Amino acid sequence: MSFTWSSDDHKAVVSQPGQKRSRGDAGNKVTVVLGAQWGDEGKGKVVDLLATEADVVCRCQGGNNAGHTVVVDGKEYDFHLLPSGIINTKSTSLIGNGVVIHLPGLFEEGDKNEKKGLKGWEKRLIVSDRAHLVFDFHQVVDGLQETERQAQEGKTIGTTKKGIGPAYSSKASRTGLRVCDLLGDFKDFSTRFKNLVRQYQSMYPALKVDAEDQLKKLKEYAERLRPMVRDGVYYMHEALHGSPKNILVEGANAALLDIDFGTYPFVTSSNCTVGGACTGLGIPPANIGDVFGVSKAYTTRVGIGAFPTEQLNAVGELLQTRGHEVGVTTGRKRRCGWLDLVIVRYAHMINGFTAIALTKLDILDVLDEIKVGVAYKLNGKRIPHFPANMDVLQKVEVEYETFPGWKTDTSAARKWNDLPVKAQNYIRFVENHIGVPIKWVGVGKSRECMIQMF
Ligand code: GDP
Ligand code: IMO
Ligand code: MG
Repeated sequence: MSFTWSSDDHKAVVSQPGQKRSRGDAGNKVTVVLGAQWGDEGKGKVVDLLATEADVVCRCQGGNNAGHTVVVDGKEYDFHLLPSGIINTKSTSLIGNGVVIHLPGLFEEGDKNEKKGLKGWEKRLIVSDRAHLVFDFHQVVDGLQETERQAQEGKTIGTTKKGIGPAYSSKASRTGLRVCDLLGDFKDFSTRFKNLVRQYQSMYPALKVDAEDQLKKLKEYAERLRPMVRDGVYYMHEALHGSPKNILVEGANAALLDIDFGTYPFVTSSNCTVGGACTGLGIPPANIGDVFGVSKAYTTRVGIGAFPTEQLNAVGELLQTRGHEVGVTTGRKRRCGWLDLVIVRYAHMINGFTAIALTKLDILDVLDEIKVGVAYKLNGKRIPHFPANMDVLQKVEVEYETFPGWKTDTSAARKWNDLPVKAQNYIRFVENHIGVPIKWVGVGKSRECMIQMF
């Protein structure tokens, strides 16, 4: 026997084992948008497009390591903790329990975007009481850990230094503090905060923290945050089982940065694949509907780690400059290379994409020829899987397909037939190779520069 809550009267609805549930019982489906590469694929743009029809837009993992750009009416917004749907005045934005929140960062981001014209965001934002907090000292520790990595191993991870790793470490070691703790008994919160500081200071003696000053600031943030805080699980349950609703989940980071499936250890500290939507919001897998994978028409990566199709040559430089490939969060130049379909297929194995958004096709417009990585070889033999071991990934040889460039400006294309045949062939090849339909093709930064295929 199993229970669900009926949304209208909050009474438990009981179904018998084996009894088929109607779609109505299962509730609304959520649409999930996920990065299929190493991040910065254009998730913000895809979410913004879908958010015009959405009732709720949620973030389920990551923190302000993410940087999502949205361009509307010539105005460019960048979001880090706020869901990109916050622009849509008709939808509610939710920061779920799986997200780690740096409160000064959150309010700074809101205030900065308010100056650009984003009105009323605090009234449209809901924050889960189960979300963990990132403190300033987590960010300092992030930097100290990078210095330590450099000293011990001669290399860093190249983190965003936003405190993401240390905050998720506190969560996993059960010493972290959550939004509900901050809003509860402040004396108790203060004691736990000081214990956490001591714990980090015993690991990093150089770490200086003015705990009293931090607590004073946190108390102020708590009062600004209080009106936005809800029980996230109950909120989502209501949203899923109430009247029909369009619910959107905006993935941050990406499959190859996933803590389990990414290019470990050069990854972030959360699950950026589809499971993160369930654990980061408290929703059942049965409520996952469409899963849209976002991939650039080439590949980029910020930070350190293997990158088999990287082009350390004129092609890489052209992609970097034409694509304005500079990190939204850190301002670092992104490394660039050809589209690697091995990684996108791998991302699809894990996420089960129902459709793909292929962004930044326009960046390829000037190339004489375009290559696509289709397989990896080790010692001259094709391997069927994506290697877990980074030493192995460093050694793979990429097998490429080569396409003639279309040498035509695609930025004004608004429908399939506006695209040159050579570009159409490129898109169809990518689609067939991944085995997932391409639903959108991006040809520019703004909302309207997106060709919808079906
Ligand atoms: P996200 O982290 O996945 O949301 O992506 P970012 O915002 O970090 O990086 C994507 C960048 O590409 C942003 O500057 C976008 O404005 C831009 N962009 C997205 N789609 C397209 C496209 O189809 N063409 C071009 N030229 N730029 C795009
Ligand atoms: P969006 O959502 C690109 C990378 C960092 C670093 C590694 C670990 O904009 O696609 P972290 O600070 O998370 O501990 O850094 O992960 N990284 C991203 N790269 N886009 C992102 O997010 C990223 N989030 C984390 O550069 O290599
Ligand atoms: Mg980004």
